[in-house]
Amino acid sequence: MKTIVLYTSSTGSTERYAKDIANKIGGDVLPLKKFKWKNASDYDCFVFGGWVLNGKIQGLDDFLCHYEELNDAKKHILIFSSGLSFPSPEGRKDLINRNILDLYHVRYYQLRGSFDINKLNWRYKLAMKLMIKKVTGDPNSSLDQVAMYSSFLTTPIDYFDYEKVEKIVTVINKLSLEPIDVEVK
Ligand SMILES: Cc1cc2nc3c(=O)[nH]c(=O)nc-3n(C[C@H](O)[C@H](O)[C@H](O)COP(=O)(O)O)c2cc1C
Repeated sequence: MKTIVLYTSSTGSTERYAKDIANKIGGDVLPLKKFKWKNASDYDCFVFGGWVLNGKIQGLDDFLCHYEELNDAKKHILIFSSGLSFPSPEGRKDLINRNILDLYHVRYYQLRGSFDINKLNWRYKLAMKLMIKKVTGDPNSSLDQVAMYSSFLTTPIDYFDYEKVEKIVTVINKLSLEPIDVEVK
């Protein structure tokens, strides 16, 4: 089974996940924007990973534009997101709702990425600084929240999730063992 991992990434953590998964399954890997959809028939399995910006998985809409074509051609589709929120059933459900993922027949994994304010472009840096200011200035924020958001200004964090990568790799390997439909005449 031939697999390609496509991704969007602003500071590199989703790219790292994508490359790690591709490396472990012996698949190809490309930024979503560089993939030529005329080559889609070369692959049996598509993995898409996108970073999360204000609850939206970046690039997901562009990837899912091709859902019908992939689904009709019986391709396997796995999606993962890379954000800072702690993965939880509620958080996963929220991301599914916000990204209208339940309209599609796909496997979805919520991964935790990394954060380094110095790697952000000026727009995202500004957005993040405003968010930090809002949380730290809000009297309803807990001490933990204030401490966590304040630390974002100074300390890079990396939550690379080795277990989830293994899980995704195992699923892809299992899918590759599924019998391929052969038309009997
Ligand atoms: C402006 C901004 C908004 C963000 N919004 C969210 C969010 O809503 N939920 C979340 O889990 N992470 C959020 N993040 C964190 C990123 O998704 C996280 O750092 C991710 O791992 C970055 O991936 P990348 O290194 O591939 O760009 C946000 C980051 C920035 C800069």
